[in-house]
This record gives sequence, structure tokens and C-alpha cells, in this order.
Amino acid sequence: MTRSQNPVLDAVLTRRSAPRLTEPAPGRADLERLVQAAATAPDHGRLRPWRLVAVTGDERDRLGDVLAEAADSPEQARRAAAKPLRAPLLLTIVHRPVPDHPKVPEWEQLAATTGVVTTLSLLLHSHGFASIWRTGATVQAPQVRKYLGVDDGEQLLGWLYVGTPPTPDTSADRRPLGTPARITWHRAGI
Ligand SMILES: Cc1cc2nc3c(=O)[nH]c(=O)nc-3n(C[C@H](O)[C@H](O)[C@H](O)COP(=O)(O)O)c2cc1C
Repeated sequence: MTRSQNPVLDAVLTRRSAPRLTEPAPGRADLERLVQAAATAPDHGRLRPWRLVAVTGDERDRLGDVLAEAADSPEQARRAAAKPLRAPLLLTIVHRPVPDHPKVPEWEQLAATTGVVTTLSLLLHSHGFASIWRTGATVQAPQVRKYLGVDDGEQLLGWLYVGTPPTPDTSADRRPLGTPARITWHRAGI
């Protein structure tokens, strides 16, 4: 499939996870608008089982200190401390499922949360920004959860690192599309 005149298809085909991100990140008003738009992703029961905690500026250093505290060795601590500085903005992804919902099991709620994150990454890309979803063992660390205000019953799903890629993004190194597409047609031809 090649580039088209369709902006949605183009955004999907050209988005890449960007490991190195620099300023600028979207400003507060723009980000809130994009998050509101991403929140229209499919959501069974309209439960909105998620929230984001934005970490920016010096708060990234403080988060780095907490990540370092949670590390297993001095070497890991040194690396952990620098991690939040890899992007100007970190969106902490918090999944907050409604427990024992009569119609919407928790896996569906997790699907809704991940749909929002994916939609947001596409929207960011289509507005000239880039992002990467990063996880790791620290999402379980009590001191990290506490620092970010993640409650019992909530799950820390990592961070969407957001900023601008250092070089203009191209679709040339896009992950190859699966060939053939991972779809079969049940009872085709019957
Ligand atoms: C739930 C989830 C967790 C991820 N965690 C990490 C991570 O911890 N570190 C990382 O480098 N990339 C992480 N990624 C990004 C993937 O590595 C990336 O999407 C994949 O390499 C494909 O690259 P692309 O997004 O540019 O197509 C994560 C992606 C998802 C969906």
C-alpha cells in the first residue's frame, strides 16, 4: 500500500515510535484538545477507564529520582534516572477499570484504554509531533505508583513519551506491512 491522498491512511502508514524526542511538545491547550479527541475511541459502556498524568519540565528529574530508587543496582539506577529526560513530555498512562461491571468485563476496558493511547499517538503524529509508548518493570514499583498518585485498583501502563523527532520523519523506514495482511475470510466462496 502506498501513500495516498487520505490523511488518516497516511497518518497510520507513516507513524513511527520515536525513541529520541526533543522540544517542542504540544502545549497544554493543544494537548488537552488532542486527548479529548482521542477519548472518542471505541469504549464499551462509555466508561472512560483511563486517565493520564502529564509529567514535564523539572518534574521529569524528580520522576527519574523515583525510578532510580526502584532500581535493583546502582548501574540500573543511573540509567533509570535519565529515562524521563528522553522526551519533553511524558504522559503517564493509568488504567482505571470499573470493577465487576455487569456488562463490560475488564479486558474490554483495557482494550478501550489502549485504543485511546493508540489514537492519541496517531493524532500527535498527524500534528507534527511523535511519541513512543514505554513500559518496564518500574510500572509495578510501589514508590513509582505512589509518586504519580496511582491508586489501588488502578494499573500503571507506562508512559507515552511525547515530543518532536530530531530529524524529519519519513515513511521510508516504516515497519513493512504484513504480506499478506493478517486476515482470512471465513468460509470464503461458500
Ligand atoms: C504496550 C506497549 C508497550 C511498549 N513498551 C515499549 C518499551 O518499553 N520500550 C520501547 O522501546 N518500546 C516500547 N513500545 C513500542 C514498540 O517497541 C513499538 O511500537 C514497536 O517497536 C513498533 O514500532 P513502531 O511503533 O515504530 O511501528 C511499546 C509499545 C506498546 C504498544
